Amino acid sequence: MKIWFFGLYGIVASTAVVGSIAIKKGLINRTGLVSELPEFEGLSDYAPLNFEFGGHEIRALDSNLYEISEEHWELNKHFDKKLLEKTKNELSKIKAQKGTAINCGKGVLEGLKPISTLEEDGLTLKEIVERIEEDLTSFADENTVAINVASTEPNITYDEEFHGSIEGFEKAIREDRKDKVTASMLYAYACLRNGIPYANFTPSVGSNIPALKKLAEKVGVPHAGNDGKTGETLVKTTLAPMFRYRNLHVLGWMGYNILGDLDGKVLSYEQNKKSKISSKDKVVGKILGYSPYTITEINFFPSLQDNKTAFDFIHYEGFLGTKMKFYFIWDAIDAIVAAPLTLDIARFLLFAKKKGVKGVVRELSFFFKSPMETEEYNIHSQFQELVTWFKELR
Ligand SMILES: NC(=O)c1ccc[n+]([C@@H]2O[C@H](COP(=O)([O-])OP(=O)(O)OC[C@H]3O[C@@H](n4cnc5c(N)ncnc54)[C@H](O)[C@@H]3O)[C@@H](O)[C@H]2O)c1
Repeated sequence: MKIWFFGLYGIVASTAVVGSIAIKKGLINRTGLVSELPEFEGLSDYAPLNFEFGGHEIRALDSNLYEISEEHWELNKHFDKKLLEKTKNELSKIKAQKGTAINCGKGVLEGLKPISTLEEDGLTLKEIVERIEEDLTSFADENTVAINVASTEPNITYDEEFHGSIEGFEKAIREDRKDKVTASMLYAYACLRNGIPYANFTPSVGSNIPALKKLAEKVGVPHAGNDGKTGETLVKTTLAPMFRYRNLHVLGWMGYNILGDLDGKVLSYEQNKKSKISSKDKVVGKILGYSPYTITEINFFPSLQDNKTAFDFIHYEGFLGTKMKFYFIWDAIDAIVAAPLTLDIARFLLFAKKKGVKGVVRELSFFFKSPMETEEYNIHSQFQELVTWFKELR
């Protein structure tokens, strides 16, 4: 099968590509891949663990994916260097196409400089969409899925006229209303219109507006999002149910995250950070059924590179009104926990497509911090939903 990454030269996408080539060559095992659990036996008949890759980018367009992976490796040393050398041939052949960064905020436009985008070439929205579609369709076949792993955009104010219907969204494109769309929306639109399943691994808006949800239903294509649940939020949605099951009252939950690398740099800009924080913040209240006091913070810590550390402090009340505390520290390489999930999501989306599923695939909520169209945030229930869905459809 084929995967198209928006943000191909980021550390998540490049690590996913290195890992999948290494698996194909028998260099590593399948640890970290949910889709390889025994519960999902038979998935390979629909979506084999064997990928070709392409994608859009807005920086380093003269480079190939080997050079990019080497740069990420020099900063992070996030896996055995031998894997990079043994996948060099395949990686060197993968090159990104130029994308768009419309309304991606200062975090991208300033933080990632120098960048190179289609709009800088003077293209209208209509021409930008045409270019994205050309790139996508010349790569894609029936077994292709697209995943957004580009930098996090700021939220855009919802406008019913342009975001509420397919016609409205197409009017924004026709009238070149660059103030009404973001890069992630344009990518999602191009995918869905061409029958390519789309997943949003970021908190950016992506396909999460009525116009694009209606388009997916109309064309009959599955999509999912938003924001991969990979680290601190994964633990939060695993632990919060424990407090609920034992009827322990959570008084407050503080989560303080520090990270470096490009993602951390982009999130050090206030506008871009806001969308990430709101995605991380709401899960505890959704699971508990009430909203305890929360502090959710993310700060840039350059020397950590991709090593994300989260400190969580939970204050809760038990029997006799006694107050107690729980602390945890999550310390992981962000790309290592995220990369396999992008491959999992791609496989499940292709499976969904082959089974005729269209529109938002709620059963993939297990993979996301802010799942679309579901109130189920409890990871245990989400996993059961995924297994049941897969077994029933298979
Ligand atoms: N554990 C995780 O790493 C994790 C978890 C959940 C969500 N995410 C999200 O996944 C995304 C990727 O994370 P990462 O660590 O790989 O970040 P990264 O900064 O290494 O990669 C992002 C890549 O996207 C490119 N890009 C930015 N805007 C673009 C655009 N409009 N079009 C095409 N390319 C664009 C950048 O040039 C960069 O190469 C981020 O939005 C991050 O918040 C990551």
